[in-house]
Amino acid sequence: MSVRLLAFCGSARRESFSRRLLTVAVASARAAGAAVTELDLRSDLLPMYDGDLEATQGLPAAALELKAQFAAHDGFLIASPEYNGFFPPLLKNTLDWVSRPAPKVPNAPDPYGGKAAGLLAASPGALGGIRCLPHLRLLLTNLGVTVSPAQLALGRADIAFDADRNLADAGQQKMLDKVVADLIRLAAAIKV
Ligand SMILES: Cc1cc2nc3c(=O)[nH]c(=O)nc-3n(C[C@H](O)[C@H](O)[C@H](O)COP(=O)(O)O)c2cc1C
Repeated sequence: MSVRLLAFCGSARRESFSRRLLTVAVASARAAGAAVTELDLRSDLLPMYDGDLEATQGLPAAALELKAQFAAHDGFLIASPEYNGFFPPLLKNTLDWVSRPAPKVPNAPDPYGGKAAGLLAASPGALGGIRCLPHLRLLLTNLGVTVSPAQLALGRADIAFDADRNLADAGQQKMLDKVVADLIRLAAAIKV
């Protein structure tokens, strides 16, 4: 069976550069034989994590659904914007909710353990958001995800795409293809 990847982006912005990069990466993953589910992390999908809300009402339905979706995939393809050197709260909030146990769903499969991740960032700035990736890498590692060493931070993302929303530079496309290919190999190697 082909490797199953869940692809999502940390920006809710309609014309997000990181989502554009993710879309190109998803095409690359499908061309390489992976089965990819694209997830839209809308900013209104989940409330900001609140322990009182969890204690009184349990996990929101969207968090339960996300936990099941994470568990049903072998790896995660994640594209992030950089906000002040960090990945954005949308991503953190989602990953935090998904990490919470669901006592009313006994024997629920692990959403993170045994999974791989490949990381992308994009920014109109020269560094492409590269400063947010070590933080995201650490968070995912804390959650039990094995993060691939290969990553791509796309600088000058405002001029990096052509009219068809492909990467204009063949070298950058090659780097993206490597991030995706490494993730697929890693996910296949560690999947249980
Ligand atoms: C609060 C905030 C902080 C930002 N900090 C950074 C930064 O540290 N580095 C950077 O390259 N761009 C930074 N930017 C600019 C973003 O890279 C830019 O808005 C980008 O388009 C956001 O990603 P998106 O296109 O995927 O939505 C920041 C933007 C915001 C709103």
